[in-house]
Amino acid sequence: MGGDGTGPEVAAEGVKVLKAVAKLEAIQLELQDFDYGGDRYLRTGEILPEGAVEKLGEFDAILLGAIGHPQVAPGILERGLLLNLRFVFDQYINLRPVKLYPGVETPLRDKGPDDIDFVVVRENTEDMYAGIGGFLKKGTPDEVATQTAVYTRKGCERCIRWAFDYTRKRNKKKRLTLVAKTNVLTYGHDLWWRTFQEVAKEYPDIQTDYNHVDACCMWMVKNPEFYDVIVTTNMFGDIITDLAGILQGGMGVAAGGNINPEPGIPSMFEPMGGSAPKYTGKGVINPIATISATAMLLEHSGYANAGERVMKAIQIVTGTKMKSQAAGKMGYSTSEVGDLVVDNL
Ligand code: IPM
Ligand code: MN
Repeated sequence: MGGDGTGPEVAAEGVKVLKAVAKLEAIQLELQDFDYGGDRYLRTGEILPEGAVEKLGEFDAILLGAIGHPQVAPGILERGLLLNLRFVFDQYINLRPVKLYPGVETPLRDKGPDDIDFVVVRENTEDMYAGIGGFLKKGTPDEVATQTAVYTRKGCERCIRWAFDYTRKRNKKKRLTLVAKTNVLTYGHDLWWRTFQEVAKEYPDIQTDYNHVDACCMWMVKNPEFYDVIVTTNMFGDIITDLAGILQGGMGVAAGGNINPEPGIPSMFEPMGGSAPKYTGKGVINPIATISATAMLLEHSGYANAGERVMKAIQIVTGTKMKSQAAGKMGYSTSEVGDLVVDNL
């Protein structure tokens, strides 16, 4: 699903790499292209046509380029497409690896690839994203607006448990940090805190830690090497992963997965950068984030070797070829970067 703006350009490079690695690893691949996004919405008035969810539901995984269209008001495509798919497929994990690849510049002085290598596990279906709220006396001086943060025991427990399992599987520092705001959000984040403590008892091999979200923003810049895996709520996860994304070299590099761990339900992988309309059609946008999303997709779909192969090829290309990760400054076009990754598989 290429989506809007530069989305289709980067998605094409992801697909190019996917096809190449599938051939090398003898993976049977069936692809279908969907034109959902702003242009189609402007043409037809529909974001996801009837039957779209059922059809998408037949696939093992979805690769999404980007959504966001200059002629569509903010929120419409986000809610109608991205958030909608996260909700209908109950993709309750938003997995955001934060890894500084070799050769990539970070704004942090004196920090390198060994220092910036952690993962954020963001809850992906609750919190202020639940869409609960409303207006009273809208448009008057007495207007009241509410936006409710919803947290459920089931929702936080399944996310926390998945994060513990992931920390164990990752097998690095074996440290899981809960990021929340228990000093102010004394109901919702108390539920998160208590659940975290309870689930932790089942994982004596994992060291646990807690940061308030504001302090986490400070530590992430000062001592990113401290983190191994962070588990956090949807809204805070959204915010801290943009901070983390810039530490790993920016939106051209950062990727994420919207995961439902149940087999038979599609998970959705995407670059974190937006549709970057001003770069559309110029062949200057960085496809590395999308190619990383493809590696995550492969790993999630049971092709760990293929995913690993793509990750290694990416790091050869960033480490030995690309001049920069910024759009237009890579030293190569979008499709040349894709070709370089393919050459290095
Ligand atoms: C993200 C994005 C989305 C979010 C937007 C586009 C709705 O910022 O995936 O982090 O807030 O989750
Ligand atoms: Mn975000």
